Amino acid sequence: MLVGAWLQGELFRDGREGDRLERAVREANSPPAAEPLVVVEHLTKRFRQGGREIAALSDVSFEVYPGEIFGVMGLSGAGKSTLIRCINLLERPDEGRVVVAGQEMTRLSGPALMQARRRIGMIFQHFALLSSRTVAGNVAFPLEIAGVSRPVIAARVAELLDLVGLGDRAQAYPSQLSGGQKQRVGIARALASEPVLLLSDEATSALDPETTVSVLQLLKEINQKMGLTILMITHEMQVIRQICHRVAVIDQGRLVEVGPVAQVFSRPSSEVARRLLREQLQEDVPPYILERARKPGQRLLRLGFLGQVAQEPVVAELMRQFPVVVNVLFGRIEELGGVPWGRLVVEISGDPGQVVAACEYLRRRGVEVEEIEGASPPGETPGQGGEEPLREPVASPPGKGGVA
Ligand SMILES: Nc1ncnc2c1ncn2[C@@H]1O[C@H](COP(=O)(O)OP(=O)(O)OP(=O)(O)O)[C@@H](O)[C@H]1O
Ligand SMILES: [Mg+2]
Repeated sequence: MLVGAWLQGELFRDGREGDRLERAVREANSPPAAEPLVVVEHLTKRFRQGGREIAALSDVSFEVYPGEIFGVMGLSGAGKSTLIRCINLLERPDEGRVVVAGQEMTRLSGPALMQARRRIGMIFQHFALLSSRTVAGNVAFPLEIAGVSRPVIAARVAELLDLVGLGDRAQAYPSQLSGGQKQRVGIARALASEPVLLLSDEATSALDPETTVSVLQLLKEINQKMGLTILMITHEMQVIRQICHRVAVIDQGRLVEVGPVAQVFSRPSSEVARRLLREQLQEDVPPYILERARKPGQRLLRLGFLGQVAQEPVVAELMRQFPVVVNVLFGRIEELGGVPWGRLVVEISGDPGQVVAACEYLRRRGVEVEEIEGASPPGETPGQGGEEPLREPVASPPGKGGVA
């Protein structure tokens, strides 16, 4: 029903909603005005192992702005954890500079580094809670180390446990909690010393999808209510999609792409981003659709509508202007960093020349159009038989589509 309304252009017709969305598109694509909170410059980290040198990070530079949720994605072994550990100097980089809130971390050592680290909270995939301490005891721990007085600790712990929704579990032990609850304790503990920056290393990777959503929602609320800047690394696209504003992609220790989530997800420029997204998007589209056999003259297309164009009845207009038949097989609308993003898989048929013209019309309207290669009836291959290719399909396994 939602997709139907969107096709008719009804979903975003409301004026106020339209303004909000337009503003979101503008904001997501314009650089923030403030000074960066985190500056990473020419960061290089090598590990030596058994006479072999591993370049875990090579010349990585980027900035994170106050109030942002900044994601870093990459395949396993890309260097994500090394990057996050170089930011709080749990690993010392071989080259480059890290500045957090005006303080050059890479120049610090000893007590000054310990002091600076207190301003950076961290949460982990496996929570890293102390099993012998209660929930309250875990959250109190960093405050005890910092020498904060008992009454202040008690008040602060109660406040933090309320914030993460565990006010009634203060005296429980970690073994008595679910994974999601353990991560909430981890978040409360990370916030105890009032950090200016929260680092998250795969904080939701050990959680089931539903719990992941609720933990991400909590992080989003903390970001919005407290203005806390969050840098999160993950290999899960839905994490980035759900809460990040901007994202960087690292591949084999190199930063290959950085930009607003809406831009990177809808028009990835690096091969690794395309690969990560292709895997994710294929999980979204039922395989029987991608593998659907085509009749002569029929083409299977993946359409992407980002921002403003998601508000317009483009497909309805297309069918009015061109003598082609569009059959919608799959549709989905979501938000990417506050920007609406619609995706459709359609079957389009008609005179080949008209089909090409219809696709050109879609592109002119700002729609991403990509042909999905798929199973064909025996003796025929899509794009043959005198049909002009609509676009060079992205190299992908047989029967699967790629992301343009
Ligand atoms: N202490 C270490 N000693 C030697 N090599 C290391 C060390 N830490 C990381 N590496 C290597 O550096 C590279 C990057 O590792 P890193 O843990 O940063 O990857 P990652 O992107 O976090 O991967 P994953 O998604 O699997 O957690 C890998 O090749 C890894 O084997
Ligand atoms: Mg890691």
